Amino acid sequence: MKLWGARFTKESNQKLNDFNSSIGVDSLMYKEDIQGSIAHATMLGKQNIIPITDSNLIIQTLKEIEKDIDNQQLEIDPTAEDIHMFIEQELTSRIGDAGKKLHTARSRNDQVALDFRLYTIKKGNELVELLNTFIVVLCKKAEDNTETIMPGYTHLQRAQPITFAHHLMAYVEMFKRDIDRISQSIERTKVSPLGCGALATTTYPIDRELTKELLGFNSIALNSLDGVSDRDFAIELASDISITMMHLSRLSEEIVLWSSWEFKFIELDDAFATGSSIMPQKKNPDICELIRGKTGRTYGNLNNLLVMMKGLSLAYNKDMQEDKEALFDSIETLIVCLETITPMMETCTVIKENMRNAAAKGFINATDCADYLTKKGMPFRDAYQVIGKLVNDAIENDKVLETLTLEEYKQASDLFEEDIYEAISLETCVNNRNVVGGPAPSVVKEHIKTVLGK
Ligand code: ARG
Repeated sequence: MKLWGARFTKESNQKLNDFNSSIGVDSLMYKEDIQGSIAHATMLGKQNIIPITDSNLIIQTLKEIEKDIDNQQLEIDPTAEDIHMFIEQELTSRIGDAGKKLHTARSRNDQVALDFRLYTIKKGNELVELLNTFIVVLCKKAEDNTETIMPGYTHLQRAQPITFAHHLMAYVEMFKRDIDRISQSIERTKVSPLGCGALATTTYPIDRELTKELLGFNSIALNSLDGVSDRDFAIELASDISITMMHLSRLSEEIVLWSSWEFKFIELDDAFATGSSIMPQKKNPDICELIRGKTGRTYGNLNNLLVMMKGLSLAYNKDMQEDKEALFDSIETLIVCLETITPMMETCTVIKENMRNAAAKGFINATDCADYLTKKGMPFRDAYQVIGKLVNDAIENDKVLETLTLEEYKQASDLFEEDIYEAISLETCVNNRNVVGGPAPSVVKEHIKTVLGK
């Protein structure tokens, strides 16, 4: 007999049972369901809505149920309708009538909204922790490479010299923003829906402030219709996760490029690369490709949630049961990606000479060459023209700016002196870009220090 079966005269069709059930997904929230029920039972007892002895027995038994699930003493019934029904039924089978009183002044609608929020907060915090660990790894790699000159790119064409540390710290900034976003979303999730009931609260003298305090929320939902049907918090975290995955995906794409023979800027550790079943020479960056690929499913989950919610009349509709699968998938996807990319980045080898060689070709010091003339008095636009022509001639004669003779320079402009070679050395180009945000080692070292809180 179902908990809600009283008004029905027939057994449910088995297909309906299977279709309706969400236990395969929401059993992940058993701890949150028990936590929420303990807060609710505490409040019911305190308010004399149920006898305090019943309240105490409920709380004690719920704790036992939690322990039993933790230790696999109690198996979650895969045929149950959802985790809320399963735990309430288990409670009642253990303590009888007292257990039947737990659901007084509560609906599954405020219950599921509560559990989902608690779970989202817990997992959000886990994501922040993983991102913090990843940032430290990136900073450490950056610390070792503040002098590692590489080409900076625009349009994937060599543009100006930077360092590998400068490049990595760009990602650190992205992941810092991701942490901010997730943390702010977590704070906004801390609104208690408990007490909203099915949609219109209750006539019992409940104390919503008390349950809010017990559960560590910042505030209570001020409208019960909104309280049970608001899923903004899930959409927000799914969005934060999508943005984070977009950043991971961009980094992954670069690692795919950098570990190719065409670049060979980095070598992945053997423990974090894969081979081919036919080509014995292959070493593939599968982790990065998977992260790039999985980014798509997190966008899909976000879109799923937005589309699922957009046509729903107030308040709860069963469509909303689909919310957890989407968000949980995004959460687990980001967790596994972070847990994998972090040690992969930590163990990869930076091939400094290849970065340096790539930087030495492609005229990435041409801007500095023009700046040299400008600093000697030539207007920048004229200097740009002179260097453009010089680069063109050099390309035709298979030379680079460093190998042009002073005579050739002087033919282009008599402002050129012997110090041009010093001015266009890659070290000078990098070291002199010491404006805040720039690639100069002194600046990047400061940046790393601030992030690491040193
Ligand atoms: N399993 C449901 C969900 O995840 C719980 C809420 C059910 N409420 C209801 N009125 N049927 O949304």
